[in-house]
Amino acid sequence: MTVIAQISDIHVRPKGRLYQDRIDSNAMFARAIVALNGLETVPDFVLITGDLTDEGSPAEYAMVRELLAPLRVPYALMPGNHDDRVQLREAFGDHPWLPREGELDFGVDIGSIRLLALDSTVPGFHHGELSAASLQWLEHELAASEDKRIMIAMHHPPFSTGIPYLDLYGLANVDALADILSRHANVDRIVAGHVHRSMQGRLGAVPVLTCPSTTTQIAARFKPDADPASYLEPPAYLLHRWGEGKGSGVSHLCYIETFDGPLPFA
Ligand SMILES: [Fe+2]
Repeated sequence: MTVIAQISDIHVRPKGRLYQDRIDSNAMFARAIVALNGLETVPDFVLITGDLTDEGSPAEYAMVRELLAPLRVPYALMPGNHDDRVQLREAFGDHPWLPREGELDFGVDIGSIRLLALDSTVPGFHHGELSAASLQWLEHELAASEDKRIMIAMHHPPFSTGIPYLDLYGLANVDALADILSRHANVDRIVAGHVHRSMQGRLGAVPVLTCPSTTTQIAARFKPDADPASYLEPPAYLLHRWGEGKGSGVSHLCYIETFDGPLPFA
């Protein structure tokens, strides 16, 4: 069995500062760590799919490190549109998975799964785009791991959400990714963050799932002139689990807060 926990969009602030001047995103991230440490089945790995910080500052990355210290599971971090590659590298330079230059693409073997983290960020912008170098790296990785089940992780999901104020900042070159996937049958699923809510879609034959934020959730409003809005809906994370048989992978949405129970099942 292989279990990968995914959390996303933690938007950590410098110590004592609030997210959007009103939300204690640091405390909410700390609660997510407590929830992961308390899981009955300890995950093999934790992946944070970007927007680690809100402004990409050294003080925020220092806080990310401090808040991650109690996590009892190996982890990897990816950049989102609120991050800064240079500062992220600076703060986590001792992490072996982090490339020394260019896009922050990397591969990690976790149990029976190969995780390919694809950097979809464009420095200085909020939309996403996969660079020629990242696409080439992905094609090479997929060809080199034909016998492995692969989970691709990226910050920007490769689909339109239907929420106009989110799609303004979507992934620009979805077709280039779809083209590569059409040549490889070993991608089990794509996981993403960025949209601050749980969504399920598809790119070609590959399922695409997004992870909620550990802080605020973005409203599902579909009118073309809808005003952007967020709510303090229950924060959540995803548990991706694979058993021994083929096709046995399932992703679970799990809430960070605790609820009354257990109640009698029958
Ligand atoms: Fe975010």
